[in-house]
Amino acid sequence: MTAVSGITPSGRLSLGNYLGALRRFAEDDGEPGFYFVADLHAMTTGHDPGQLGRLTRETALLLLASGMPEGSVFIQSAVPAHAQLAYLLECTAYIGELSRMVQYKQKGGRPMTRASLFTYPCLMAADILLYGATRVPVGGDQDQHVELARDLAVRFNATYGQTFIVPELARAQAAGRVGDLQTPTAKMNKSEPDQACGVLRMLDSPDVLRRKVMRAVTDSDGEVRHDGDTKPGVTNLLEILGACTGMEPVAAAAHYSSYGDLKKDTADAVVALLEPVQQRYRALADDPKRVDELLEAGRQRAAGFAAPRLARAMSAAGLMG
Ligand code: TYM
Repeated sequence: MTAVSGITPSGRLSLGNYLGALRRFAEDDGEPGFYFVADLHAMTTGHDPGQLGRLTRETALLLLASGMPEGSVFIQSAVPAHAQLAYLLECTAYIGELSRMVQYKQKGGRPMTRASLFTYPCLMAADILLYGATRVPVGGDQDQHVELARDLAVRFNATYGQTFIVPELARAQAAGRVGDLQTPTAKMNKSEPDQACGVLRMLDSPDVLRRKVMRAVTDSDGEVRHDGDTKPGVTNLLEILGACTGMEPVAAAAHYSSYGDLKKDTADAVVALLEPVQQRYRALADDPKRVDELLEAGRQRAAGFAAPRLARAMSAAGLMG
């Protein structure tokens, strides 16, 4: 059982990233997985190099602070095999299937769209297939990409001989899609501007977290009930409360007769969940040498695992290098 997953440093990480991904990585038992900051993925749209460096470091620290096993965290661009295998998979993928990717349909298709926005699902497939992943723990928005990785593995194997393990998607049991507090029908998205008050950031202070939750959009009927169609705001709060406390969201509704109490308990639960991570983050931020050592250990382990599979794929495809 090998788990692989990445986080793109395209913004300051959100509670959605923690619940849908980071927390689940830390809960994985068995063999340590491969968890990386997907910095190459952050270049598919216009980006500021200085900001990318800062966000990469912050994201790496948050992965470490969330309790990943030692040696399991690294930075994608430090392991060149990702980009090398991505090219082989671009030579396996079809234009038709890449054109159907939701992200490309939403953000791409213009003359000045970066070519990488079109091809990056192949990079993501490489991220997964390089390590022989059997599990890919991700939030609900990544299903289509993991499906493509599966298709490319099957096609490559059928064309060139058995090379890749076909990975399974590991869907989140809870909080697979945490909603934005101001627009609860949209996902809480780290790429929103820093000041967006619908996005709870993993490093927001307890005061800021509380304020954002207390201002969350609800509705005017005043009844605390779990119903995503007619009450998306209240339902999102119940889902967040449930994911933070382990309570069942539908049953949790029965404990509340006012939105104010629901918001207060949700805010307390979010703060209680994130505070220990924030403390570990601060301790790591004060010890940059230790962080460098941990990331170097992660890089070495990842590079060691990736090299033989890349070599096998190259030779299967007839490359002599
Ligand atoms: P990214 O950086 O957008 O998101 C990182 C992880 O967080 C999950 N997530 C959420 N879960 C619940 N609710 C939300 N509101 C929410 N927002 C984000 C995402 O599903 C994801 O698991 N392309 C990927 C990164 C990547 C990757 C990979 C993932 C690169 N290579 C290989 C898995 C395997 C991305 O941009 O995720």
